[in-house]
Amino acid sequence: MTEWQKTDWRAKPRVQMPDYLDQSALNAVEGKLASYPPLVFAGEARRLKNHLAAVSRGEAFLLQGGDCAESFKDFSADGIRDTFKVMLQMAMVLTYGAKVPVVKVGRMAGQFAKPRSAPTEVKDGTELPSYRGDIINELDFTEAARIPDASKMLQAYTQAAATLNLLRAFSTGGFADIHRVHAWTLGFTDGDEAGKYRDMALQISNALDFMTAAGLTSETNHELGSVEFYTSHEALLLEYEEALTRLDSTSGNWLAGSGHMIWIGDRTRQPDGAHVEFCSGVQNPIGLKCGPTMTSGHLKALMAKLNPQNEAGRLTLIARFGAGSVGEHLPRLIKAVQEEGANVVWTCDPMHGNTIKSATGYKTRPFDSVLREVREFFGVHQAEGSIPGGVHFEMTGADVTECTGGVRAVTDEDLSARYHTACDPRLNASQSLELAFLVAEELQARRNGLSKVKAG
Ligand code: PEP
Ligand code: CO
Repeated sequence: MTEWQKTDWRAKPRVQMPDYLDQSALNAVEGKLASYPPLVFAGEARRLKNHLAAVSRGEAFLLQGGDCAESFKDFSADGIRDTFKVMLQMAMVLTYGAKVPVVKVGRMAGQFAKPRSAPTEVKDGTELPSYRGDIINELDFTEAARIPDASKMLQAYTQAAATLNLLRAFSTGGFADIHRVHAWTLGFTDGDEAGKYRDMALQISNALDFMTAAGLTSETNHELGSVEFYTSHEALLLEYEEALTRLDSTSGNWLAGSGHMIWIGDRTRQPDGAHVEFCSGVQNPIGLKCGPTMTSGHLKALMAKLNPQNEAGRLTLIARFGAGSVGEHLPRLIKAVQEEGANVVWTCDPMHGNTIKSATGYKTRPFDSVLREVREFFGVHQAEGSIPGGVHFEMTGADVTECTGGVRAVTDEDLSARYHTACDPRLNASQSLELAFLVAEELQARRNGLSKVKAG
């Protein structure tokens, strides 16, 4: 077999990628990106892989979350801070429920390119190419805005670098101190509606007080004052990914330098296609979206291609079937993994199978369907003797009105108030944190149930 090259994907069938009209402009952008520093370092990707290996064994839990699509227009320090902050709150609550460390991975600093279900969009009788994310074209409904523009890759790189810089500063600069995170969470449970989560929040307070009394403070213990936070995005725009791919001199392996973890979408997972080819050759942890059309044969072929050495932490399977459909699809895929003796992380994306159109015309997701899919996911894993490793959410720290439901209920009528997403509807800060409490309760209940079974 000849050695893998970062250009090999070019000889494979590609889907969901733009046709750039100006080839010389594209080449110039690729050349520039190839000369820029990578955004992440190989040692970091390997460290994340080790954490994910722990998740695959049930010794850690994965929380992955962030925007459906990052946007150039909504780029701000406050936006990054708020999403980071809610993810820390969620992670703290989940740690309490799961009783294992939570691995935190943002859909951030590179989540710009979007696969679409239709190549064109029709509005008032006018048909235009679909919007494919800010790294490719623009959301405005005009012909000029929808032309793919390679120079947007440079803006995406700059925004990703600035985002990552801020995330690194927040992670270690005091912002992420566990006592601060807990104080914010207590604020959420103060309100009447969210009061039903106060018990768990107070139990966390007690645990923290006990630790302090025992001399474990952020001054004495660095782990309590800082966090590890990783970035991830869908590796859709392969020209961008290729240009940021570097040979890691320590290991002699290739690294996608665009983010710590990259994933393959449900529409681009053809075993002989360009996206699988590209991801097969880089050493980063790889995610693979598994939707209703995935057969056990597909999954076996993909596992062989993406993780031939069966390395733990390398492959994360992201199940996204929709509430009510998990029982129909997940068991055959869990069996495929078991038959191959494959080491994988199983995580649940309860967003992409639960998108509906509201009565008021907005693309939305009901909070209850999101929760129901997570519960079904845990239930099927328990029945099949497999490990549910984590959750994957489209969410933001901002107070948007894009998904319906939650204790601070967003109704169909509210959707128009603050509907800001460039693509799919996201859970807002309150809905995200509430979901973390509910998942934590679920984890706790299952652990108690399991230990009862073991004890009996
Ligand atoms: C996404 O994660 O934004 C996405 C498009 O997911 P999927 O490939 O699962 O549809
Ligand atoms: Co999405």
